[in-house]
Amino acid sequence: MPSFSEILSKPTVFADRNVLSPHYVPETLPFREKEIERIMVWLSPALKNERPRNIFIYGKTGTGKTCSVKHVLSKLSQHKSSAFSCYINCRMYNSRYRVIQKITKDLLPSLDSMGFGLAMLYEKMMHSVDFGDAQAGAESGGQAGKRLIVVLDEVDMVKDLDDLLYTLTRCNDELKRGSVSLIGISNKLSFKDQLGQRSKSSLCENEMVFAPYTANQLQSIIAQRAQIGFKPGVVEESAINLAAAITGQDVGDARYALKLLMKAGEIADEKGLSKITDKEVDEARRSVDRDVVFEAISTLPDHQQLVLLAVANLALDKGKNTRLAEAGEEDAQLLISGEVYEEYSKMCRRYRKPRRSARWYREYLNDLEMLGLITTIESGAGMRGRTRLIRIGYPASDVKKIVEKNFQIIESP
Ligand SMILES: Nc1ncnc2c1ncn2[C@@H]1O[C@H](COP(=O)(O)OP(=O)(O)O)[C@@H](O)[C@H]1O
Ligand SMILES: [Mg+2]
Repeated sequence: MPSFSEILSKPTVFADRNVLSPHYVPETLPFREKEIERIMVWLSPALKNERPRNIFIYGKTGTGKTCSVKHVLSKLSQHKSSAFSCYINCRMYNSRYRVIQKITKDLLPSLDSMGFGLAMLYEKMMHSVDFGDAQAGAESGGQAGKRLIVVLDEVDMVKDLDDLLYTLTRCNDELKRGSVSLIGISNKLSFKDQLGQRSKSSLCENEMVFAPYTANQLQSIIAQRAQIGFKPGVVEESAINLAAAITGQDVGDARYALKLLMKAGEIADEKGLSKITDKEVDEARRSVDRDVVFEAISTLPDHQQLVLLAVANLALDKGKNTRLAEAGEEDAQLLISGEVYEEYSKMCRRYRKPRRSARWYREYLNDLEMLGLITTIESGAGMRGRTRLIRIGYPASDVKKIVEKNFQIIESP
């Protein structure tokens, strides 16, 4: 039996693992200087006790949106002013009620808001923004109001977003001394088009796109991180280049590149190696890809998972049949939307979920397609009329395993 001290004294390639974690905010953010400066300019009115205009930031995952905004907020907080910022991850706070509750809690940490209704929370929030606290009021010469800046990260996750945006923008009409400004952030490029007209014009007073990083940029980002995260000389230069090339080729996602590096380090530790080479990066890639798909599927709502399971089941069936008939034909992998809906209904019965209507089902297909878990094409007007044809984006047997495992966990008492 090993002891903890033996485990702790095992050699490791890491100098500071934390540096490679996705939550770490580095001190400098190369290639985002312009974006950061622009956000600072846009927020600067708050330091002169004026209301900054709302900002909408969008760009693909891992383009540095979250860390750039957090970086600016921490700079803002170093200034004595009436500015007050509140960062909200809408994955966790995904409704108007939860967001307003979180803002109120940040403004009034000692308030026990349990059981408060929306109207009560709103009133507390408004009062705090308008009157600030007595001390801040004295410091800013009796002008007590706060310039509240609310960051809604992954804002597309909010279920009643139009209501939330309406509430948070209209409250400025009622505020006399303070104000509320918003920074909305989204990973979905098409998200703006889904917003209602009123929400769009209120949220997008200023807007900015974060472009994906190029392979060269990724290379210096991860090289910088590797230098502090690993012991000196551990990571071979070619391994860094490979990690950057793998990532750049796909999407320019810095988070993915860092995951590769972290995983490569873990693999090296497991094998007792003192260096990270191309080989470990390549191995890490397979493992990270599996994790990414696993996470994407596991965080889906139940019905999307069941639709995906239906697709996987049929793809597996089809796979068996085509191997007998006409192996290797691409079109043979295409599933007909109606068949998938039938299989989905079966899965709903199996897992005792009330089946949703065909209209919802089409929405679920859109969600799955957006995540790259399936691709769909519209068939021409043929014998069956117009129908959607569906192809699974990942190995069907893996997908099936993941969904079935999730439902097992949910089902067991
Ligand atoms: N320019 C950069 N320099 C250093 N690290 C970066 C840079 N951009 C992103 N990162 C790192 O990549 C990861 C993902 O960045 P994040 O801000 O979460 O992206 P997004 O919010 O756009 O999905 C984080 O760990 C972050 O620290
Ligand atoms: Mg983010």
